[in-house]
Amino acid sequence: MKKIRKCLFPAAGYGTRFLPATKAMPKEMLPVMTKPLIQYGVEEAVDAGLDTMAIITGRGKRAIEDHFDISYELEHQIRGTSKEPLLAEIRALIDRCTFTYTRQIEMKGLGDAILKGEVLIGDEPFAVLLADDLCDNPAGDGVLKQMMKIFDKYRCSIVAVQEVPREETSKYGVIAGREIDEGIYMVDEMVEKPDPEEAPSNLAIIGRYILTPDIFDKIRKTEPGKGGEIQITDALMAQASAGMVIAYRFEGQRFDCGSIDGFVQAVNYFYDKNSDGCKV
Ligand code: UTP
Repeated sequence: MKKIRKCLFPAAGYGTRFLPATKAMPKEMLPVMTKPLIQYGVEEAVDAGLDTMAIITGRGKRAIEDHFDISYELEHQIRGTSKEPLLAEIRALIDRCTFTYTRQIEMKGLGDAILKGEVLIGDEPFAVLLADDLCDNPAGDGVLKQMMKIFDKYRCSIVAVQEVPREETSKYGVIAGREIDEGIYMVDEMVEKPDPEEAPSNLAIIGRYILTPDIFDKIRKTEPGKGGEIQITDALMAQASAGMVIAYRFEGQRFDCGSIDGFVQAVNYFYDKNSDGCKV
């Protein structure tokens, strides 16, 4: 199987929970301190050794493309001033990575957004990162890097999971499986947004995946599920039934920046981290 080089960023959603902020600005561009959410995601992908960022956009998302492009006028304006270092990180990302884009025309769900990425990914395994799940692991490897190591061993699709309070299972895809190594589960059940009493466990899927390319065919065969959307969990369940899918309980922190509470927690966390003298 080919090496993983590409990271897909589904970023076409409307971000309705952040209206009116997201009326004209993509949710993925909301800043935590001075960096937009999607830049944290790209940094995590680069840290995991990936160099091609495939971004699924939609109407009103042009700011994402502009962010990952050079602004000659701005660079000229601040050259030689104390502000110059503020653009150094993003400039390094632009120099290091290739950014490719395609649009999801109708928001038919995460599964559909991933299928739209087939044209950018091709026939190779790839990572998926939802930028509104902001992750940090100050003690070690980033979440995607941890998952890459697991992929090297198992060579199958992997979902990152986190234990959540039972009453919150209806916000997530939830898995059940057999723990085959510490924090590593062989998935045998996967349910999208189950009520707490129907949830097979409290292990919730968060916005990090490694997918093998046969997922595209599985999505094509997936009927719209919960909420009328094409759910990636249904396609993953088909993969699990036909072969093997791993769920990985990752190490580190995760903030649900698609919700107001999670976003505020992330801002506080990175503010504290920054004022401790650590670089965000
Ligand atoms: P969310 O469920 O958070 O939806 O999508 P959303 O539209 O972004 O936000 P709300 O609920 O209206 O506030 C999870 C991820 O999947 C992407 C989103 O951009 C987000 O990164 N997504 C979702 C798509 O790209 N296309 C879709 O059709 C649905």
